[in-house]
Amino acid sequence: MEKNEKEITGFSKMGKREKIAWLAKNFLYASPVEVVKEFAEYWHDNIEAQKLLDGFSENTLTNFPVPFGIAPNFKINDRVYAVPMVIEESSVVAAASNAAKFWLSRGGFKAEVISTRKVGQVHFTYRGDTQKLISFFNSIKEELKQGVKHITTNMEERGGGVVDMELIDFTNLEPDYFQLRAHFETVDSMGANFINSCLEEFGSLLRSKIALSSQFSETEKEIEIVMCILSNYTPECLVHAEVSCKVSELGSFDNDTVTAEEFAYKFERAVNIARIDPYRATTHNKGIMNGIDAVVLATGNDFRAVEACAHTFACRDGVYRSLSECKVENGVFRFWMNFPIAIGTVGGLTSLHPLAKRSLELLGNPNAKQLMEIIVCVGLAQNFGALRSLTTVGIQAGHMKMHLTNILASMQATDEEVAKAKNYFEEKLVSVSAVREFLEKLRT
Ligand code: MEV
Repeated sequence: MEKNEKEITGFSKMGKREKIAWLAKNFLYASPVEVVKEFAEYWHDNIEAQKLLDGFSENTLTNFPVPFGIAPNFKINDRVYAVPMVIEESSVVAAASNAAKFWLSRGGFKAEVISTRKVGQVHFTYRGDTQKLISFFNSIKEELKQGVKHITTNMEERGGGVVDMELIDFTNLEPDYFQLRAHFETVDSMGANFINSCLEEFGSLLRSKIALSSQFSETEKEIEIVMCILSNYTPECLVHAEVSCKVSELGSFDNDTVTAEEFAYKFERAVNIARIDPYRATTHNKGIMNGIDAVVLATGNDFRAVEACAHTFACRDGVYRSLSECKVENGVFRFWMNFPIAIGTVGGLTSLHPLAKRSLELLGNPNAKQLMEIIVCVGLAQNFGALRSLTTVGIQAGHMKMHLTNILASMQATDEEVAKAKNYFEEKLVSVSAVREFLEKLRT
């Protein structure tokens, strides 16, 4: 069969320039020289630094720059942080900074890690007497733990390890399906590799111990390990974060047209709406994730894992709800969130990526628990900032103001035009057409 020009074998073996040129020819229909030049502009000057970045992934062509910003004035558990945030959305860092400053003079954020356990699973099939399997599993639990000592010794020295193990019978939902569910403490590391290594060992130990036992028939010995993998759902890796103050201390809003009390009740209602309606809850939680993901990324952690977990947790009672809660009671405004988050401050990219390392340094080299607290407070701040705008002036004024720079860039505005436009739109509503009109006038 004739090979389509878009198919290729050996792509990963090609050099960077060769890869880019091939893509330019077959997918961009552009000059390979031009495209190579464009991609090369984002290569690191330092060859060793580029090698390091290339090593993080596969088939890398270049680097994809995303802004690295700082939200200062974050008072968390009485300590003030300047929080690094990596995000492309223009208004996020500004909103986080405003919310941080707002709470700085009202006691700041309080956060506490409630628990730090993580889960891993060995999914397997067994055809036979369930009771026999359960009692056998219970009798070899300790041996299974001992069998992974070569993996767990270092972690145990740091205070972590395998905490517990259970066998779950899922045969009512899937024929012959059982699950070995293990619980882990991984201290300051996210622990994915550690957990997965333990699980694969548990899987093979379980199978060999059953195969060697005279209690099981030949059919019962035919255990199939379907897969061994950690779970990114970590409801037991939980942080509580909150802000509170007297309603009267909230101040007034919208040029003194909204009182503190009006604001507090409207804000509470906005949160309640997100607790009952999944359409609103999704956007509400997206706002929380704007802050969470930005710090997770800046510190070299896995934002997909954090996202996946957050959304599962948001629908833990069967309905997708807001992750945050608010109560106005006895003259006190309280806004809080219990958020599950599994991240690390050692291992992975945390020390390999030079900017992730710097981010952690900026935060005072926190341990995993402290970083969990910081990240969840930023998520809460982000949510507060979004709701404060939504329930008072609306979101667009701020958004479009921040977006002005992007609009001007898309219209190839010069530095002088940018300065004039920023000045002009200081008190005016920003829109694409208004900016275009402004530039047109300026240019004629
Ligand atoms: C935009 O990135 C986030 C918001 O939509 C969040 C929210 O609606 O709460 C503003």
